[in-house]
Amino acid sequence: MRFEKIVSVLPKCGLLAEVGCDHARLTELALRKGLCDSAVVSDISETCLAKARVTLRDYPNVTYIVADGVPEEARKADCIMICGMGGHTIADILSRYTGRATLVLSPQSHTELVRAELRDLGYDLDIDECFEAAGKFYDLLRAEKGDMTVDSMQIAYGKFYKRKNAALEKKLTRLLNNLKNSEEANAAKIREIEEVLVWQR
Ligand SMILES: C[S@@+](CC[C@H](N)C(=O)[O-])C[C@H]1O[C@@H](n2cnc3c(N)ncnc32)[C@H](O)[C@@H]1O
Repeated sequence: MRFEKIVSVLPKCGLLAEVGCDHARLTELALRKGLCDSAVVSDISETCLAKARVTLRDYPNVTYIVADGVPEEARKADCIMICGMGGHTIADILSRYTGRATLVLSPQSHTELVRAELRDLGYDLDIDECFEAAGKFYDLLRAEKGDMTVDSMQIAYGKFYKRKNAALEKKLTRLLNNLKNSEEANAAKIREIEEVLVWQR
């Protein structure tokens, strides 16, 4: 499922931060698997953070912060997870971040904005893949400090769009069929998707 897949790419770390934690089930899974010694969980909403306090009640080594974006308390984190938000929000949070932590990100939409922001921040992607969970498609990104040279196709479809990925193929085949059946067919977009699919088949 989605939580397992995201947590599977977390590096083992001292301090893990989850920004926009809501119920904090991702952090709970990371703690349960022994992937971090302590955690900072934060959310812009006090109501959401209250859910995290319930989920993580058995873990004493957790700090809870209400904050918009990466809180000061997470600046020393080895890894920061930001998942389950739109790409606009994640890109905005990243644009205000100045640290060097490993970033594990799973935007629900507009992943191209997140890739472009990572490149501009001086981060390089070592994981950029599409996966399917419970019938939905998600992107999962992991980035470390470093220069990243990517072209517009990589920004739009993933740094590794030329590597075979069954979920990406399924998602783009569906999208292509929808675009071809739509009355406002976008020829340029159709050509791009067909180019990605050449690598996927
Ligand atoms: C759908 S939940 C995702 C929860 C969890 N990260 C996951 O992937 O399962 C998105 C959360 O992000 C929080 N959020 C939205 N914008 C935020 C921001 N700028 N800073 C911190 N949290 C934010 C929301 O309050 C909400 O709890």
